[in-house]
Amino acid sequence: MTTLYRARVLDTPEDPFAGGTLRSADDAGLLVDDAGTITARGDFAAVLREHPGSDVVDLRDGWLLPGLVDAHVHYPQVRVIGALGMPLLEWLDRCALPEEQRLADPSYAAAVAREFVDGLVAAGTTTALVFGSHFAPAVDCLFTEAARVGLRVTSGLVVSDRGLPEPLLSTPERAYDDAMALATRWHGTGHARYAATPRFSYSADDPVLDACAAVLEDVDGAWFTSHVNENPAEVAAVERLFADAEHYVDTYDKHGLLGARAVLAHNVHATDAELGVLAARATSVAHCPTSNSALGSGLFPLRRHLEHGVRVALGSDVGAGTGFSLLAEGLQAYLVQSLLGEAGDPLTATHLLHLATRAGALALGLGEVVGDLSVGREFDAVRVRPLLGSRLHLGLRHAATHEEVLARIFTLGGDADLAGVWVAGRRIA
Ligand code: GUN
Ligand code: ZN
Repeated sequence: MTTLYRARVLDTPEDPFAGGTLRSADDAGLLVDDAGTITARGDFAAVLREHPGSDVVDLRDGWLLPGLVDAHVHYPQVRVIGALGMPLLEWLDRCALPEEQRLADPSYAAAVAREFVDGLVAAGTTTALVFGSHFAPAVDCLFTEAARVGLRVTSGLVVSDRGLPEPLLSTPERAYDDAMALATRWHGTGHARYAATPRFSYSADDPVLDACAAVLEDVDGAWFTSHVNENPAEVAAVERLFADAEHYVDTYDKHGLLGARAVLAHNVHATDAELGVLAARATSVAHCPTSNSALGSGLFPLRRHLEHGVRVALGSDVGAGTGFSLLAEGLQAYLVQSLLGEAGDPLTATHLLHLATRAGALALGLGEVVGDLSVGREFDAVRVRPLLGSRLHLGLRHAATHEEVLARIFTLGGDADLAGVWVAGRRIA
Protein backbone atom coordinates (compact mmCIF):
# COMPACT_ATOMS: atom_id res chain seq x y z
CA MET A 1 0.00 0.00 0.00
CA THR A 2 1.37 3.42 -0.94
CA THR A 3 0.72 6.49 1.18
CA LEU A 4 0.02 9.89 -0.34
CA TYR A 5 0.98 12.76 1.98
CA ARG A 6 -0.82 16.01 1.26
CA ALA A 7 1.11 18.95 2.68
CA ARG A 8 2.59 22.42 2.41
CA VAL A 9 6.22 21.54 1.79
CA LEU A 10 9.40 23.60 2.20
CA ASP A 11 12.80 22.19 1.26
CA THR A 12 16.14 23.15 -0.30
CA PRO A 13 17.29 20.65 -2.92
CA GLU A 14 19.46 23.32 -4.57
CA ASP A 15 22.26 24.82 -2.46
CA PRO A 16 21.37 28.45 -1.63
CA PHE A 17 25.10 29.15 -1.12
CA ALA A 18 25.44 28.38 -4.83
CA GLY A 19 22.38 30.26 -6.09
CA GLY A 20 19.65 27.77 -5.16
CA THR A 21 16.31 29.02 -3.90
CA LEU A 22 13.68 27.76 -1.48
CA ARG A 23 11.39 25.13 -2.99
CA SER A 24 7.86 25.58 -1.72
CA ALA A 25 4.58 23.93 -2.58
CA ASP A 26 1.25 24.91 -1.07
CA ASP A 27 -0.64 21.74 -1.89
CA ALA A 28 1.90 19.05 -2.67
CA GLY A 29 1.36 15.33 -2.98
CA LEU A 30 4.24 13.09 -1.89
CA LEU A 31 3.72 9.44 -2.74
CA VAL A 32 5.65 7.09 -0.44
CA ASP A 33 5.99 3.37 -1.08
CA ASP A 34 6.13 0.52 1.44
CA ALA A 35 9.91 0.81 1.71
CA GLY A 36 9.55 4.47 2.75
CA THR A 37 10.83 5.96 -0.53
CA ILE A 38 9.21 8.97 -2.21
CA THR A 39 8.13 7.67 -5.62
CA ALA A 40 6.17 10.65 -6.94
CA ARG A 41 5.83 14.33 -6.13
CA GLY A 42 3.69 17.05 -7.64
CA ASP A 43 0.45 18.93 -7.19
CA PHE A 44 -1.67 16.85 -4.86
CA ALA A 45 -4.57 16.60 -7.31
CA ALA A 46 -2.30 15.45 -10.12
CA VAL A 47 -0.53 12.81 -8.03
CA LEU A 48 -3.88 11.52 -6.73
CA ARG A 49 -5.19 11.28 -10.29
CA GLU A 50 -2.19 9.14 -11.23
CA HIS A 51 -2.44 7.00 -8.06
CA PRO A 52 -6.11 6.92 -7.13
CA GLY A 53 -5.86 3.96 -4.74
CA SER A 54 -3.40 5.63 -2.37
CA ASP A 55 -3.99 6.04 1.31
CA VAL A 56 -4.16 9.85 1.75
CA VAL A 57 -2.69 11.47 4.89
CA ASP A 58 -3.69 15.12 5.09
CA LEU A 59 -0.97 17.25 6.75
CA ARG A 60 -2.04 20.62 5.34
CA ASP A 61 -2.42 22.15 8.78
CA GLY A 62 1.22 23.25 9.18
CA TRP A 63 4.35 22.89 7.06
CA LEU A 64 6.33 19.81 6.20
CA LEU A 65 10.14 20.07 6.26
CA PRO A 66 12.79 17.42 5.62
CA GLY A 67 13.89 15.63 8.80
CA LEU A 68 16.59 17.69 10.54
CA VAL A 69 20.21 16.53 10.49
CA ASP A 70 22.46 17.07 13.53
CA ALA A 71 26.09 16.72 12.45
CA HIS A 72 27.56 16.90 15.98
CA VAL A 73 25.92 15.97 19.28
CA HIS A 74 27.17 14.22 22.44
CA TYR A 75 25.01 11.41 23.80
CA PRO A 76 26.51 11.32 27.36
CA GLN A 77 25.92 15.05 27.89
CA VAL A 78 22.13 15.23 27.77
CA ARG A 79 21.98 15.81 31.54
CA VAL A 80 24.52 18.67 31.60
CA ILE A 81 22.81 20.97 29.11
CA GLY A 82 22.63 24.51 30.45
CA ALA A 83 25.87 25.02 32.38
CA LEU A 84 26.84 28.54 31.42
CA GLY A 85 29.79 30.78 32.04
CA MET A 86 32.85 28.58 31.42
CA PRO A 87 35.31 28.23 28.54
CA LEU A 88 35.85 24.82 26.95
CA LEU A 89 38.56 23.23 29.09
CA GLU A 90 37.02 24.34 32.37
CA TRP A 91 33.56 23.21 31.23
CA LEU A 92 34.96 19.79 30.33
CA ASP A 93 36.62 19.44 33.76
CA ARG A 94 33.74 20.70 35.82
CA CYS A 95 30.64 19.61 33.88
CA ALA A 96 31.04 17.21 30.99
CA LEU A 97 33.74 14.79 32.14
CA PRO A 98 32.33 14.07 35.64
CA GLU A 99 28.99 13.21 34.02
CA GLU A 100 30.60 11.12 31.27
CA GLN A 101 32.27 8.94 33.91
CA ARG A 102 28.83 7.96 35.22
CA LEU A 103 28.19 6.11 31.95
CA ALA A 104 30.54 3.39 33.18
CA ASP A 105 27.36 2.01 34.76
CA PRO A 106 25.34 0.41 31.93
CA SER A 107 22.00 0.95 33.63
CA TYR A 108 22.80 4.66 34.00
CA ALA A 109 23.90 4.71 30.36
CA ALA A 110 20.67 3.03 29.23
CA ALA A 111 18.59 5.73 30.94
CA VAL A 112 20.73 8.48 29.41
CA ALA A 113 20.43 6.85 25.96
CA ARG A 114 16.64 6.96 26.24
CA GLU A 115 16.66 10.64 27.25
CA PHE A 116 19.10 11.43 24.48
CA VAL A 117 17.17 9.74 21.68
CA ASP A 118 13.90 11.19 22.99
CA GLY A 119 15.53 14.64 22.92
CA LEU A 120 16.61 14.26 19.30
CA VAL A 121 13.22 13.03 18.13
CA ALA A 122 11.33 15.73 20.04
CA ALA A 123 13.43 18.33 18.22
CA GLY A 124 12.61 16.83 14.81
CA THR A 125 16.09 15.41 14.26
CA THR A 126 15.99 12.25 12.16
CA THR A 127 19.69 11.81 11.36
CA ALA A 128 22.63 12.45 13.68
CA LEU A 129 26.39 12.01 13.89
CA VAL A 130 26.68 11.25 17.58
CA PHE A 131 29.72 11.45 19.83
CA GLY A 132 29.39 8.24 21.83
CA SER A 133 30.74 7.32 25.24
CA HIS A 134 34.21 6.27 26.44
CA PHE A 135 32.57 3.01 27.62
CA ALA A 136 31.73 0.34 25.06
CA PRO A 137 28.61 -1.00 26.85
CA ALA A 138 27.26 2.57 26.91
CA VAL A 139 27.77 2.84 23.15
CA ASP A 140 25.77 -0.38 22.80
CA CYS A 141 22.98 1.32 24.76
CA LEU A 142 22.93 4.21 22.29
CA PHE A 143 22.83 2.02 19.17
CA THR A 144 20.16 -0.17 20.80
CA GLU A 145 17.94 2.79 21.62
CA ALA A 146 18.43 4.45 18.22
CA ALA A 147 17.49 1.17 16.50
CA ARG A 148 14.43 0.74 18.72
CA VAL A 149 13.15 4.20 17.83
CA GLY A 150 14.32 4.10 14.21
CA LEU A 151 16.72 7.06 14.12
CA ARG A 152 19.59 7.27 11.63
CA VAL A 153 22.65 7.34 13.86
CA THR A 154 26.36 7.25 13.08
CA SER A 155 28.39 6.86 16.26
CA GLY A 156 31.24 5.12 17.97
CA LEU A 157 33.40 4.61 21.01
CA VAL A 158 35.16 7.80 22.14
CA VAL A 159 38.85 7.09 22.68
CA SER A 160 41.59 8.97 24.54
CA ASP A 161 44.82 8.12 26.32
CA ARG A 162 45.79 11.33 28.13
CA GLY A 163 44.56 14.61 29.56
CA LEU A 164 41.25 13.28 30.89
CA PRO A 165 40.23 11.64 34.19
CA GLU A 166 41.71 8.15 34.41
CA PRO A 167 38.42 6.20 34.04
CA LEU A 168 37.94 7.76 30.59
CA LEU A 169 41.35 6.66 29.29
CA SER A 170 42.12 3.67 27.11
CA THR A 171 45.15 2.24 25.32
CA PRO A 172 45.73 2.02 21.56
CA GLU A 173 45.18 -1.76 21.68
CA ARG A 174 41.94 -1.54 23.64
CA ALA A 175 40.77 1.41 21.55
CA TYR A 176 41.12 -0.74 18.42
CA ASP A 177 39.68 -3.95 19.85
CA ASP A 178 36.66 -2.31 21.51
CA ALA A 179 35.90 -0.27 18.39
CA MET A 180 36.10 -3.33 16.16
CA ALA A 181 33.75 -5.28 18.42
CA LEU A 182 31.20 -2.44 18.36
CA ALA A 183 31.54 -1.91 14.62
CA THR A 184 31.07 -5.63 14.00
CA ARG A 185 27.84 -5.56 15.99
CA TRP A 186 26.36 -2.34 14.62
CA HIS A 187 27.95 -0.94 11.44
CA GLY A 188 25.51 -1.39 8.55
CA THR A 189 22.67 -2.81 10.64
CA GLY A 190 19.46 -0.88 9.98
CA HIS A 191 20.34 2.82 9.88
CA ALA A 192 23.42 2.47 12.10
CA ARG A 193 26.97 3.25 11.00
CA TYR A 194 30.22 3.24 12.94
CA ALA A 195 32.43 6.32 13.43
CA ALA A 196 36.00 6.16 14.75
CA THR A 197 35.98 8.89 17.40
CA PRO A 198 39.10 10.18 19.17
CA ARG A 199 37.80 12.87 21.55
CA PHE A 200 40.30 15.46 20.24
CA SER A 201 44.02 15.29 19.64
CA TYR A 202 44.51 17.16 22.94
CA SER A 203 43.49 13.85 24.61
CA ALA A 204 44.65 11.35 21.96
CA ASP A 205 48.32 10.78 21.26
CA ASP A 206 49.66 9.44 17.95
CA PRO A 207 49.26 5.71 18.76
CA VAL A 208 45.54 6.17 19.58
CA LEU A 209 45.07 8.12 16.35
CA ASP A 210 46.82 5.27 14.54
CA ALA A 211 44.39 2.83 16.15
CA CYS A 212 41.53 4.96 14.77
CA ALA A 213 43.13 4.84 11.33
CA ALA A 214 43.30 1.04 11.60
CA VAL A 215 39.57 0.93 12.42
CA LEU A 216 38.82 3.04 9.34
CA GLU A 217 40.89 0.68 7.25
CA ASP A 218 39.28 -2.47 8.65
CA VAL A 219 35.63 -1.35 8.74
CA ASP A 220 34.37 -0.80 5.23
CA GLY A 221 32.54 2.53 4.98
CA ALA A 222 33.24 3.62 8.57
CA TRP A 223 33.19 7.32 9.44
CA PHE A 224 35.57 9.56 11.34
CA THR A 225 34.69 12.39 13.68
CA SER A 226 36.45 14.56 16.26
CA HIS A 227 36.88 18.16 17.41
CA VAL A 228 39.20 20.83 16.01
CA ASN A 229 40.14 24.50 16.55
CA GLU A 230 37.40 25.22 19.06
CA ASN A 231 39.09 27.37 21.70
CA PRO A 232 42.39 29.35 21.72
CA ALA A 233 43.76 27.63 24.87
CA GLU A 234 42.96 24.21 23.38
CA VAL A 235 44.59 25.13 20.06
CA ALA A 236 47.75 26.34 21.84
CA ALA A 237 47.94 23.14 23.91
CA VAL A 238 47.60 20.95 20.80
CA GLU A 239 50.38 22.93 19.16
CA ARG A 240 52.64 22.10 22.14
CA LEU A 241 51.60 18.43 22.20
CA PHE A 242 52.25 17.83 18.48
CA ALA A 243 55.52 19.64 17.80
CA ASP A 244 55.91 17.83 14.46
CA ALA A 245 52.42 18.62 13.12
CA GLU A 246 51.88 21.53 10.74
CA HIS A 247 48.71 22.59 12.58
CA TYR A 248 45.71 21.17 14.46
CA VAL A 249 44.07 19.75 11.32
CA ASP A 250 47.37 18.04 10.48
CA THR A 251 47.30 16.09 13.78
CA TYR A 252 44.46 14.09 12.19
CA ASP A 253 45.55 14.38 8.58
CA LYS A 254 49.02 12.95 9.14
CA HIS A 255 47.34 9.73 10.32
CA GLY A 256 45.21 9.56 7.17
CA LEU A 257 42.03 10.15 9.16
CA LEU A 258 40.56 12.87 6.95
CA GLY A 259 38.53 12.25 3.83
CA ALA A 260 34.99 12.57 2.52
CA ARG A 261 33.73 10.38 5.37
CA ALA A 262 35.11 12.69 8.06
CA VAL A 263 33.37 15.46 10.01
CA LEU A 264 35.24 17.78 12.38
CA ALA A 265 33.32 19.89 14.86
CA HIS A 266 33.83 23.63 15.42
CA ASN A 267 36.89 24.87 13.46
CA VAL A 268 36.30 28.38 14.78
CA HIS A 269 40.01 29.29 14.76
CA ALA A 270 41.07 27.77 11.45
CA THR A 271 44.00 29.04 9.42
CA ASP A 272 43.83 29.27 5.65
CA ALA A 273 46.29 26.38 5.42
CA GLU A 274 43.95 24.21 7.48
CA LEU A 275 40.94 25.17 5.37
CA GLY A 276 42.96 24.22 2.31
CA VAL A 277 43.66 20.76 3.72
CA LEU A 278 40.00 20.20 4.68
CA ALA A 279 38.88 21.22 1.19
CA ALA A 280 41.45 18.96 -0.45
CA ARG A 281 40.29 16.01 1.67
CA ALA A 282 36.55 16.83 1.14
CA THR A 283 36.20 16.74 4.93
CA SER A 284 33.15 18.51 6.37
CA VAL A 285 32.92 20.86 9.32
CA ALA A 286 30.06 20.79 11.83
CA HIS A 287 29.32 24.37 12.88
CA CYS A 288 27.88 24.43 16.41
CA PRO A 289 26.72 28.01 17.01
CA THR A 290 24.95 27.80 20.38
CA SER A 291 27.89 25.87 21.82
CA ASN A 292 30.40 28.38 20.44
CA SER A 293 28.34 31.19 21.96
CA ALA A 294 27.75 29.49 25.34
CA LEU A 295 31.43 28.59 25.83
CA GLY A 296 32.65 31.88 24.36
CA SER A 297 34.63 29.89 21.80
CA GLY A 298 34.40 32.52 19.08
CA LEU A 299 32.53 33.53 15.93
CA PHE A 300 32.56 30.90 13.18
CA PRO A 301 34.24 32.05 9.95
CA LEU A 302 31.59 30.63 7.62
CA ARG A 303 32.55 32.77 4.66
CA ARG A 304 36.16 31.60 4.75
CA HIS A 305 34.99 27.97 4.85
CA LEU A 306 32.78 28.54 1.81
CA GLU A 307 35.50 30.46 -0.04
CA HIS A 308 37.88 27.53 0.46
CA GLY A 309 35.20 25.07 -0.64
CA VAL A 310 34.85 23.37 2.75
CA ARG A 311 31.45 21.77 3.28
CA VAL A 312 29.65 23.05 6.40
CA ALA A 313 26.74 21.47 8.27
CA LEU A 314 25.07 22.26 11.59
CA GLY A 315 25.50 20.59 14.97
CA SER A 316 23.75 21.13 18.29
CA ASP A 317 26.83 20.04 20.29
CA VAL A 318 24.63 19.09 23.24
CA GLY A 319 25.54 19.49 26.08
CA ALA A 320 27.81 22.54 25.50
CA GLY A 321 25.12 23.58 23.02
CA THR A 322 21.95 24.88 24.59
CA GLY A 323 19.58 22.15 23.38
CA PHE A 324 18.68 19.67 20.66
CA SER A 325 16.81 22.11 18.43
CA LEU A 326 18.37 22.65 15.02
CA LEU A 327 15.92 25.50 14.61
CA ALA A 328 17.70 27.21 17.52
CA GLU A 329 21.08 26.36 15.96
CA GLY A 330 19.94 27.88 12.67
CA LEU A 331 18.88 31.08 14.39
CA GLN A 332 22.16 31.28 16.31
CA ALA A 333 24.12 30.65 13.11
CA TYR A 334 22.31 33.62 11.59
CA LEU A 335 23.01 35.81 14.65
CA VAL A 336 26.71 34.91 14.67
CA GLN A 337 27.13 35.81 11.00
CA SER A 338 25.25 39.02 11.65
CA LEU A 339 27.62 39.90 14.52
CA LEU A 340 30.60 39.36 12.24
CA GLY A 341 29.44 42.31 10.15
CA GLU A 342 31.50 42.73 6.99
CA ALA A 343 33.36 39.48 7.67
CA GLY A 344 30.13 37.53 8.10
CA ASP A 345 28.02 35.69 5.59
CA PRO A 346 24.50 37.19 5.63
CA LEU A 347 22.13 34.25 5.94
CA THR A 348 18.50 33.97 4.90
CA ALA A 349 15.97 31.52 6.28
CA THR A 350 16.55 29.40 3.17
CA HIS A 351 20.25 29.12 4.09
CA LEU A 352 19.26 28.04 7.59
CA LEU A 353 16.94 25.31 6.30
CA HIS A 354 19.65 24.08 3.97
CA LEU A 355 22.23 24.00 6.77
CA ALA A 356 19.82 22.09 9.02
CA THR A 357 18.80 19.51 6.39
CA ARG A 358 20.49 18.97 3.04
CA ALA A 359 23.93 20.26 4.07
CA GLY A 360 23.90 17.77 6.95
CA ALA A 361 22.83 14.95 4.69
CA LEU A 362 25.67 15.78 2.27
CA ALA A 363 28.23 16.03 5.08
CA LEU A 364 27.16 12.58 6.28
CA GLY A 365 27.26 11.02 2.81
CA LEU A 366 23.48 10.62 2.77
CA GLY A 367 22.70 13.14 0.04
CA GLU A 368 21.07 10.46 -2.11
CA VAL A 369 18.97 9.19 0.79
CA VAL A 370 17.66 12.11 2.87
CA GLY A 371 17.96 15.90 3.26
CA ASP A 372 15.12 17.01 1.01
CA LEU A 373 11.75 15.70 -0.11
CA SER A 374 12.54 14.88 -3.73
CA VAL A 375 11.51 11.76 -5.63
CA GLY A 376 13.99 8.99 -4.82
CA ARG A 377 14.70 10.15 -1.26
CA GLU A 378 13.43 8.27 1.75
CA PHE A 379 10.56 10.02 3.50
CA ASP A 380 12.31 11.58 6.51
CA ALA A 381 10.20 14.56 7.51
CA VAL A 382 9.11 16.81 10.33
CA ARG A 383 5.79 18.57 10.46
CA VAL A 384 5.72 22.07 11.94
CA ARG A 385 2.25 22.77 13.28
CA PRO A 386 2.36 25.72 15.70
CA LEU A 387 0.97 25.04 19.10
CA LEU A 388 -2.07 27.20 19.77
CA GLY A 389 -0.89 30.40 21.48
CA SER A 390 2.82 29.64 21.08
CA ARG A 391 5.28 32.33 20.02
CA LEU A 392 5.38 30.73 16.58
CA HIS A 393 1.61 30.56 16.34
CA LEU A 394 1.34 34.26 17.10
CA GLY A 395 4.26 35.21 14.86
CA LEU A 396 2.98 33.34 11.83
CA ARG A 397 -0.22 35.36 11.69
CA HIS A 398 1.78 38.10 10.01
CA ALA A 399 3.98 36.06 7.68
CA ALA A 400 3.09 36.59 4.04
CA THR A 401 5.70 34.72 1.98
CA HIS A 402 7.20 31.26 2.35
CA GLU A 403 10.54 32.85 3.20
CA GLU A 404 8.85 34.81 5.99
CA VAL A 405 7.16 31.67 7.28
CA LEU A 406 10.50 29.88 7.35
CA ALA A 407 12.23 32.80 9.09
CA ARG A 408 9.58 32.74 11.81
CA ILE A 409 9.89 28.98 12.17
CA PHE A 410 13.63 29.39 12.86
CA THR A 411 13.18 32.46 15.06
CA LEU A 412 10.16 31.44 17.10
CA GLY A 413 9.69 27.68 16.67
CA GLY A 414 10.28 25.20 19.46
CA ASP A 415 9.77 21.49 20.06
CA ALA A 416 6.13 22.07 21.07
CA ASP A 417 5.45 23.38 17.57
CA LEU A 418 6.44 20.06 15.98
CA ALA A 419 3.67 17.55 15.38
CA GLY A 420 4.93 14.48 13.58
CA VAL A 421 8.35 13.05 12.75
CA TRP A 422 8.95 10.35 10.11
CA VAL A 423 11.99 8.24 9.21
CA ALA A 424 11.83 6.21 5.99
CA GLY A 425 8.07 6.58 5.90
CA ARG A 426 7.57 5.36 9.46
CA ARG A 427 6.15 7.80 11.95
CA ILE A 428 8.37 7.89 15.04
CA ALA A 429 6.75 10.82 16.89
N1 GUN B 1 36.32 18.97 22.82
C1 GUN B 1 36.58 17.77 23.38
N2 GUN B 1 35.51 17.27 24.00
C2 GUN B 1 34.52 18.15 23.82
C3 GUN B 1 33.16 18.20 24.23
O1 GUN B 1 32.63 17.31 24.88
N3 GUN B 1 32.45 19.30 23.87
C4 GUN B 1 32.98 20.31 23.13
N4 GUN B 1 32.22 21.35 22.80
N5 GUN B 1 34.27 20.29 22.75
C5 GUN B 1 35.01 19.24 23.08
ZN1 ZN C 1 31.45 18.39 20.68
